[in-house]
Amino acid sequence: MHELCVIEGDGIGHEVIPAAVLVLQAVLPDLKVYNAAAGWDYFLERGVSVPDETLAMVRNCGAALFGAVSSPSHKVEGYRSAIITLRQSLDLYANIRPVQSLPGLSPRQGVDMIIVRENTEGLYAGRERMQGDSAAIAERVITASASYRIGLKALQLARLNGRRRVTIVHKANILPLTDGLFRKSVHAAAVDFLNQDDQITIDELLVDTAANQMLSQPQRFDVIVTTNLFGDILSDAAAYWCGGMGVAPSINLGDQFAIAEPVHGSAPDIAGKGIANPIAAILSAALLARYTWGLPDVASAIETAVRSVLLHDLDFSSGCAQPHLTDRVTRAVLNRLE
Ligand code: NAI
Ligand code: MG
Repeated sequence: MHELCVIEGDGIGHEVIPAAVLVLQAVLPDLKVYNAAAGWDYFLERGVSVPDETLAMVRNCGAALFGAVSSPSHKVEGYRSAIITLRQSLDLYANIRPVQSLPGLSPRQGVDMIIVRENTEGLYAGRERMQGDSAAIAERVITASASYRIGLKALQLARLNGRRRVTIVHKANILPLTDGLFRKSVHAAAVDFLNQDDQITIDELLVDTAANQMLSQPQRFDVIVTTNLFGDILSDAAAYWCGGMGVAPSINLGDQFAIAEPVHGSAPDIAGKGIANPIAAILSAALLARYTWGLPDVASAIETAVRSVLLHDLDFSSGCAQPHLTDRVTRAVLNRLE
């Protein structure tokens, strides 16, 4: 039996996550679902963005599906983005973002990469402070242990998915201590992990060159492993090649727990209108099946159903802002799974 903690969060999380749960229930009839709260609206009501019960629920279930939460762009005393809190409290140290061309949506076919982003440190360590009134400092923390384990995770995923190349993206020419330590630690993981049966090559790119190539030749990438902020920015840019934020999935993995989440945010501009695309959430649910529950066939069934819907059932040539899109996509995917 599989157990899932469902955290809709804010905004369109309330629309796309129920859609993804319906799809999971269709392929896993024994799935037990538990709802839990987190996010900005919850914070406004209760003064905390992730209640202890939610953390306990994710720990009990082992797996969670998370929508998105809103976060103000100014400091609010006592508030920290719920997803950042969840990632850090549960030590979900790897953020995995597969980017694949989708029929009918992607601006370019043939893109197929996995971005593996370190999820616990870098600039997201949250060590910001003022120095007087006119300077602000953020510390960018890189440790050998976190860099080694994200390197190891990238290599494991490469082997699991039959990938051929892992590219370390860094900026060690300007940041030789921090990014130098990152690249050295990933190389050390490769030395320890790879054996002669693996056909996996390790190479490196500076992050600015990687950004340029992400635009000019995205097909060149296979697996990318990088630090937190570089991974955040590169993977949002890469999501363009899937066909937009509405279809880009991700999963946060630790050694004990996992939280799958669409890459997009709470999209307040379209929330409540029934037009949010649920595909990112549905494909994120598939990642739980593949990486957490060890059910690659279930994951493939969901992914194939989504592709069939895009190829045969729905027309996005005039854009994604279509009435009742959330329901229409969900029903079409469910029909394909029958
Ligand atoms: P966003 O991803 O929410 O929206 C960006 C644009 O993409 C908007 O025009 C939106 O309508 C569109 N979009 C996003 N998801 C869509 C979907 N499923 N279907 C169709 N269109 C979709 O990013 P934005 O606007 O920068 O942030 C809004 C809020 O979300 C902010 O409060 C931000 O802090 C939060 N956020 C939360 C994240 C998380 O919880 N993991 C990630 C990114 C942003
Ligand atoms: Mg982001």
